[in-house]
Parts: sequence; structure tokens; C-alpha cells
Amino acid sequence: MNKVTTDILLTNNIHIYATAEAASIKVARVIADEIIKKRSLGQQLVLGLATGNTPKMVYQQLVRMHRDEGLSFKNVISFNLDEYYPLKETHPLSYHSFMNQHLFDHIDIAQSNIHLPHGEWDVARLGDYCKAYDQKIKQHGGIDLQLLGIGRNGHIGFNEPGSAFDSATRLIDLHEQTRTDAAIDFEGIENVPLQAITMGIATITNAKKILLLAIGTRKAEIIKKAFQNEISPEVPATFLRTLPQVSYILDQEAAALVGPLER
Ligand code: PGA
Repeated sequence: MNKVTTDILLTNNIHIYATAEAASIKVARVIADEIIKKRSLGQQLVLGLATGNTPKMVYQQLVRMHRDEGLSFKNVISFNLDEYYPLKETHPLSYHSFMNQHLFDHIDIAQSNIHLPHGEWDVARLGDYCKAYDQKIKQHGGIDLQLLGIGRNGHIGFNEPGSAFDSATRLIDLHEQTRTDAAIDFEGIENVPLQAITMGIATITNAKKILLLAIGTRKAEIIKKAFQNEISPEVPATFLRTLPQVSYILDQEAAALVGPLER
């Protein structure tokens, strides 16, 4: 086991669960507990949210907690990581649609507290809109808790390989692997947008707490690289190793290649 992995283990921030469901329940519980804690202090929770297959079960759990346990999202302010560009908000595969379908339509979050980068932002003013997005996060005191997935090329948000550690929210060209992975949903790679707007790596890493969730065998290879490769823009998730506030929540399949863990 190399040194960086050992350091991570010593900080005790890798958590491996037998199933994807168990890992997702853990993540949902952490989010719910943060919401409840902030509520008891009379404060709002600034929550960074992700899309894709990975967080679906987390959102299912949060919706269940809202329905069955009375978990309220009235004190939540959300900021999503990314959105395809250009893409209409109403497109069924927009991340706006995804969030409505999987979470927002089923909970009591105030519409005015929901923020996502926009696939319909005017291209001439895109830089201003991206800056304003980061500014708005700052105005709210920064992200308290950021939920992250990881792409098979190591991207976080849509910060593709080559993204700088100090990058801000911006327009980015999607990597070939990202577009290939999205091709099934879009029914053909030719339908996958070429670009996206993503929170920057600096935007993400400024979060006070970060939960990276990875589930399934198809993430095993990149999780190994995220833990063991040299820290570099080539695998943007390696940057997370420099941060003490990151926890990795994995199922056994995603953790399969990490090597022997001293747990
Ligand atoms: P996925 O995507 O959850 O659909 O695998 C994760 C990501 O790209 O961050």
C-alpha cells in the first residue's frame, strides 16, 4: 500500500459498505443529520448536490425520510454541480429535470433556494453567469456539505482531466469517455452535448465537508487511481486527497481494487 493511501486510512475517512444501498443509506443519513443539526441551530444548510446514477438511491432515501420521518428541507439551500450546455431546462435529460424527478418534486425545499448552472445561459454572458454562481455560493457562506460522484476518468462535477486545482465555475468541453458513458441515456453519442457548465475544482474543494460516493464494479479502477495515482489534473479526483474534509463512501465493488485496508 503506498503512503498516500495509508494517510487516508489513518485519517479514517474511507468507509466501505457491503452494498450500494447500504452506502447510499449512510450518505443520506449524514445529509439528514446535517439538515437537522442546522435546523436546531436556526440555520440553513448549504448543500451541494450531484446527478448521475450514483446519487439516485441517496435521493430515494431522502425522499423516504421526508415522507416517513418528517425530514424537512425548508432550511436547505442547494447548489448543483453541473449542467449540460447547451440544453433546455425542460429537456428530459437535463440535470434540472433529473433533480426535479429524483428529489425536488418530492420534498419541501423552497423553489427559490434551488440553484443549478443553466444550460440556457446566454453564451455571450456565460462568464458573468458562472462568476455569479460562485459568488452566490460565497454569499451563502460557502457549501457546508457537498455530495460528489466520480466519473470513470476521474472527473468530479464535470471537471474533466486537465482541470486545474484552482478552477472556478466555467464552461468545459466534455471528455470523450464522459460522452460515451452518457450515450446510452441520450440514445447515441451524437446526441450527447459537447459541453457543460461545471462548478470548478476550487468551488468544490472550498466546501466544508465533502462526501464522495462511488458504487459498483465500473468504478473500481478509477477509485484505485484516485487513491494511488500521483496527485495531478490528469485524474482530478486525486486533488481530494490533499483535503482533510473529504470522506469516501464506497460499496465493496467500487473498493475492490483498493488493496488490503486496515480497517
Ligand atoms: P454516474 O456519474 O453516477 O452516472 O456514474 C458519476 C459522475 O460522472 O460524477
